[in-house]
Amino acid sequence: MQVITIAARKGGVGKTTLAMHLSVLASEPGRPALLLDTDPQRSLAWWHRLREADVPNLIEADARELPELVAAAKREGIARVIIDTPPHAEDSILGAMRVADLVLVPTRPGPLDLAAVATTLELAERVGKAPLAVINHAPPRTGLAEPAIVTEARAALVGMGATVAASVVANRVSMSHAILTGSTVNEHEPGGKAAAEVEALWREIEAALAQDGRKSR
Ligand SMILES: Nc1ncnc2c1ncn2[C@@H]1O[C@H](COP(=O)(O)OP(=O)(O)O)[C@@H](O)[C@H]1O
Ligand SMILES: [Mg+2]
Repeated sequence: MQVITIAARKGGVGKTTLAMHLSVLASEPGRPALLLDTDPQRSLAWWHRLREADVPNLIEADARELPELVAAAKREGIARVIIDTPPHAEDSILGAMRVADLVLVPTRPGPLDLAAVATTLELAERVGKAPLAVINHAPPRTGLAEPAIVTEARAALVGMGATVAASVVANRVSMSHAILTGSTVNEHEPGGKAAAEVEALWREIEAALAQDGRKSR
């Protein structure tokens, strides 16, 4: 079983949005992913209630229950668990990181957002995890070149010692439209640019998990 924890000490960077998207992509026929919403704000659960599709499954949880919930998921043969976390509750974030095979740290590319990533990386380090940072809310590419702010953000993250996903998720209205209908961009606008971006991110995460799996065998 693979556990992905999405964490960032800053709010509004896309933790919940990426949890939704990745959980749908991580669900395979007959093997739905399990979402654990540990943010007391329950935004993920709100979206889940809007959904018509019956996958993925979701449990509203307290971070203290995670070891037990993750063990139960494993016993039940669940292949992938995705954990959404609150931005400020340090103990909850640490708890969710501890049970993770991969910690994903979304950030916006702005300077203040990047400064806040350092504190998230510090938490990950405390529990011995090497997170994967992902730039979300990026300005969409207009030509072949990456927008300068994205290149700069990538350099700043590498400077902090983070591994940065090659895939970048742009700020797109289709993201909001999808969420409001309890779906994801892949369901709402398959074949669109936003869908392609989150699919590329998911493939990168799958590859990172597979590599870790090989290392630990
Ligand atoms: N790539 C994106 N494009 C457009 N809107 C986005 C994108 N990512 C997140 N949002 C929007 O930004 C807001 C904050 O995102 P959210 O996932 O709730 O962040 P967090 O969970 O980190 O607080 C939400 O309204 C969400 O719909
Ligand atoms: Mg959230």
